[in-house]
Amino acid sequence: MSLINKLIRPFAATGSQCIWPGLIEAYRPFLPVSEKTPVITLQEGATPLIPVQSIANRIGRGVKVFVKYDGLNPTGSFKDRGMTMALSKAKEENSEAVICASTGNTSASAAAYAKRGGMKAFVLIPDGYVAQGKLAQALVYGAEVISIKGNFDAALEIVQKMSDQYPITLVNSVNPYRLQGQKTAAFEIIDSLGDAPDWLCIPMGNAGNISAYWMGFKEYFKHKKAKKLPKMMGFQASGSAPLVQNKIIKEPETIATAIRIGNPVNREKAINAKIESKGEFLAVTDEEIVEAYKMLASKEGIFCEPASAASVAGLLKRKDNIPLNSTIVCVLTGNGLKDPDCAISNNDAVFHIKVENNLDVVAKTMGF
Ligand code: F0G
Repeated sequence: MSLINKLIRPFAATGSQCIWPGLIEAYRPFLPVSEKTPVITLQEGATPLIPVQSIANRIGRGVKVFVKYDGLNPTGSFKDRGMTMALSKAKEENSEAVICASTGNTSASAAAYAKRGGMKAFVLIPDGYVAQGKLAQALVYGAEVISIKGNFDAALEIVQKMSDQYPITLVNSVNPYRLQGQKTAAFEIIDSLGDAPDWLCIPMGNAGNISAYWMGFKEYFKHKKAKKLPKMMGFQASGSAPLVQNKIIKEPETIATAIRIGNPVNREKAINAKIESKGEFLAVTDEEIVEAYKMLASKEGIFCEPASAASVAGLLKRKDNIPLNSTIVCVLTGNGLKDPDCAISNNDAVFHIKVENNLDVVAKTMGF
């Protein structure tokens, strides 16, 4: 057997060894696909579960903390898990075009997978509130981008009506195939740890991902692949926390533009996950988000986007309530490169600019 084959982990569901084929093939028995489904994949999934000792040290008491770095998916966010399923099923149903509302990541992923499947993508985004990297992706993948004078919630209302009235498939997380694909992240965590964690910390926006994870954890538990179920800990930005405050937020605001959502469509499913798992919803401030964001990058070398850091910020806020020796997974939903403006404005780096082009000057600047 070649070295590469030895290094690549076995497919979780089939037990065979090969190059990772993407999550539909890896988890086919757990997904609503058949031989008739044309699989549209960019070999998403199989993202690393990375121990983060500096976060564990802040908590102490023998707690182990991992991050599920889903920003390493093909378009840089967890949305790819949902899009491989949603687009494969849309193609199976002979759809020629898809539509979504998005704070950025959904639109990037929908555009990439639509093009991979030879379909058209239309995306509605809130004007001025989509991070540069995400907008760049939607444009370069060739989506038709419509930026509206309104927020994500307003855009979602429009696309829901569009898909009712016109022959176009909606690929927001109201599309049930999205959550089916996204639940595979819970499978991967259990496959890596050998059991479910004690806590799963996750940012919430439209609240699809927390619902998908809970479905995945319950399914694997039912199939006896895990001995326990985690507490689902959902975190929102304090200026945009409809689930924490239990009301619609008309004008949500946060630095974490990915989760700048005031009226989540998956509200009921998320509340159910919280109740069934004896979990908790909590708000974190933008300052707490930025602190966790900087800490992950500067202490661990892990660059995520601000919305993703809400999971770690929330964990640190709850650190005194964590039982001894717990295993905790924080989901890092998106890649830091998505939002370079946020990174450039929020870091503690030493950045010497316009230094003279001269060895001695450079050495002196460095303190030699
Ligand atoms: N983290 C990131 C990086 C996101 O892009 C999103 C959602 C979330 C967390 C929240 O996930 O909505 O399932 O609760 N982004 C959507 C978008 C809304 O349009 O890209 P959720």
